[in-house]
Amino acid sequence: MRFKRILVTGGAGFIGSAFIRYGLANLLLEKIVNVDLLTYAGHEKNMEDFLHDRRHYFVRGDICDKALIKALCQEHGIEAIVHFAAESHVDRSIHDPSAFLETNVYGTFTLLEVVRELPHLHFHHVSTDEVYGSLHQGFFNENSSYRPNSPYAASKAASDHFVRAWGHTYGLSTTISHCTNNYGPYQHVEKFIPHMILNCMEAKPLPVYGEGINVRDWLFVDDHVEAIWLILEKGKTGQVYDIGGETEMRNIDLLHTLIDCLAPRLSQDAENLRRLITFVADRPGHDLRYAIDCSKIKDELGWTQRHTLPEGLEKTVEWYVEVLQ
Ligand SMILES: NC(=O)c1ccc[n+]([C@@H]2O[C@H](COP(=O)([O-])OP(=O)(O)OC[C@H]3O[C@@H](n4cnc5c(N)ncnc54)[C@H](O)[C@@H]3O)[C@@H](O)[C@H]2O)c1
Repeated sequence: MRFKRILVTGGAGFIGSAFIRYGLANLLLEKIVNVDLLTYAGHEKNMEDFLHDRRHYFVRGDICDKALIKALCQEHGIEAIVHFAAESHVDRSIHDPSAFLETNVYGTFTLLEVVRELPHLHFHHVSTDEVYGSLHQGFFNENSSYRPNSPYAASKAASDHFVRAWGHTYGLSTTISHCTNNYGPYQHVEKFIPHMILNCMEAKPLPVYGEGINVRDWLFVDDHVEAIWLILEKGKTGQVYDIGGETEMRNIDLLHTLIDCLAPRLSQDAENLRRLITFVADRPGHDLRYAIDCSKIKDELGWTQRHTLPEGLEKTVEWYVEVLQ
């Protein structure tokens, strides 16, 4: 591995914990310092596989605390920061955007200021396809314009711009990745797939926004974290890499597929679960479709998705049924 001593932010969350789990299990690493504030979205349970690994050092702390982050980088001889920590739920951003500005914008700015003072550090920023806005046809790629539509997307777009500007103006080593919707074990139950699994298990209504026709592209979380490790290893400084599942689905179709996967594990009739589907008022400003052309990371770095949607859903459903039952 090019970087053996890494500071991860948000490593008690869904994707950050998958990134650490994967790195410690598969790569030659010396140290991962994991800074997470353990907001409602971060859990110690997410770190159960690696919390006591001697190469992992957990600190409950805020990415807005510049002195803390700088001291950790210096004490542990950190070579790269991989930045996952964020407020990540679109619905919450609509109800109360202020935390999104604080963590996603000011937090990212704070980390960049640490890198400005310690310019030997590489900075990788984990971002989202939602910064590009909604798409009717075609695909987004690294050259697409930014058109964020939700407060969440706007805060991520702003943080991307800070990363770009700090790289350009101060000559820092930075990379950015934009990924489509992730799913997999350890995702917070407020997100679509875990929420639907939980409600099926509890025979509660399955709320679907609008007519369920919004299209998302789905990627199994381990495929996303492999892409990020690859960018760290082989990515070029100053570059942006878009990561996608190449598996577009309307929300309603995804829910039917999920029910088909879940029903046998719950010893339930799929038709009974389908009766729980309830269409609810659409999310304000709901983007119709996101889709990514990920040929750059495939062609330049040799990345590819390893899980089909059915394979990823099987793993996801198996994990939730075991944990929630
Ligand atoms: N989930 C997706 O589908 C998806 C897709 C593309 C990009 N992303 C991006 O990936 C990153 C991780 O997403 P996720 O789904 O794992 O999110 P998550 O909500 O599961 O985890 C976020 C983590 O950040 C921590 N955190 C929040 N504020 C903090 C602060 N001020 N200081 C330190 N830690 C703090 C939380 O405690 C939590 O552990 C985010 O930047 C998100 O924008 C997510």
